[in-house]
Amino acid sequence: MLNVAFVCLGNICRSPMAELIFRQLAEERGLSLSFNIDSFATSEYEVGSGIYPPAKRTLENHGIRGTHIAKQISLRDVINNDYIIVMDSENLLSLLRLTGGKFGEKIFKLRSFTSRPHDVADPWYSRNFEKAYEDIYEGCECFMQYLLKEHKEAFDYDKRH
Ligand code: 4NP
Repeated sequence: MLNVAFVCLGNICRSPMAELIFRQLAEERGLSLSFNIDSFATSEYEVGSGIYPPAKRTLENHGIRGTHIAKQISLRDVINNDYIIVMDSENLLSLLRLTGGKFGEKIFKLRSFTSRPHDVADPWYSRNFEKAYEDIYEGCECFMQYLLKEHKEAFDYDKRH
């Protein structure tokens, strides 16, 4: 079982989109039981809120459904997860502040797995939810490809049992 946490500033747009997209990619590969997938905010701004309606609508336009309630990440969550996947450089700095610079080896920017490793622009400000979806989808797909190689034996085992 791999514990994967997606992280953004508010946990109502980008990271819940990534959580639901990545969950679908795992399901498509018959790997639902191989993952524990969650998402978190670096801030407390939107704690307790559901997925922001324009983000939810964008997901639904692409056939992806699901719910999430925003929560702020704690040091315990960083310790408990194998991969912490952030959306932009600001999220990365916030996490390193939280950990006092520790656990950097398991914190990655989502698009660092792609051939165009730019930040995922925050649609809360850009209002471009479709662009965010496309950037996140590609990032999730490339992250999945990375994990399939990196943890091949574990996934092959899970599929046999
Ligand atoms: P997210 O977008 O980090 O992609 O969830 C934001 C949502 C809310 C706020 C900032 C960013 N906010 O300031 O409330």
